[in-house]
Amino acid sequence: EVLIAATAEEAATFAAEAVLDGLRSRRSGDNVLGVATGSTPLGLYAELAKAVERGEADFSTTTAFALDEYVGLEGTHEQSYRQTLVTELCNVVGLPESRLNTPDGYGDSEAQIRAQAAAYDAAIIEAGVDVQILGIGTNGHIGFNEPGSSLRSRTRIKRLSTQTRVDNARFFEGPDAVPTHSVTQGLGTILEARRMVLVATGSKKAAAIAAALEGPLSAACPGSVLQLHPDAVVVLDEAAAAGL
Ligand code: GLP
Repeated sequence: EVLIAATAEEAATFAAEAVLDGLRSRRSGDNVLGVATGSTPLGLYAELAKAVERGEADFSTTTAFALDEYVGLEGTHEQSYRQTLVTELCNVVGLPESRLNTPDGYGDSEAQIRAQAAAYDAAIIEAGVDVQILGIGTNGHIGFNEPGSSLRSRTRIKRLSTQTRVDNARFFEGPDAVPTHSVTQGLGTILEARRMVLVATGSKKAAAIAAALEGPLSAACPGSVLQLHPDAVVVLDEAAAAGL
């Protein structure tokens, strides 16, 4: 389902409705939300906070799983995705930090990080994600599944593309300070969530969105895996929808 909103603000409202609707459909137990970093979901998180204020939502018993984390940054590092999500999600919607799960990209050896990635993948499958919130990179990546990622991949270490490091340099002292690798949920892992809600806004995302939604299913555009999912909601503003 593709929803095209007039503005980014309206897109955030539509996306929040799709997320809350997906969470409500859980039959039993506490709900499980897959969360994403990046600038795009911030409006959505603000809308979820408003729903909490109105008494229409409550994240105090929600379990969250993040898509990805940088390799080499401890979870306490300011630029780690864990700290980013504590600030931008947990503190905004009232989701306890103890319920936020993030991949652990910190360790003494590659083998240790690989083992942590496998354990994280198993924990996601055990929990069962009700709704996965997604953004998309300008190169079509989701999570940190860069172009060329296997469509059935699981949580693992991935090298970041030059484009992604340039895109994310604004959070660091420059492109060279951006970590070279990440631990990211695989495309196969992400696809196991019961509902996908992808948000994209702005003209920089237009080409990636056109390739993901109307291009061939291809590892060249990891976002195209949404075409395989039975309940994928894509919320765009007009600028991001311009290539459709
Ligand atoms: C990062 C994250 C992605 C996110 C992307 C887009 O690379 N790993 O999960 O979708 O950035 O970010 P933004 O929304 O800031 O454009």
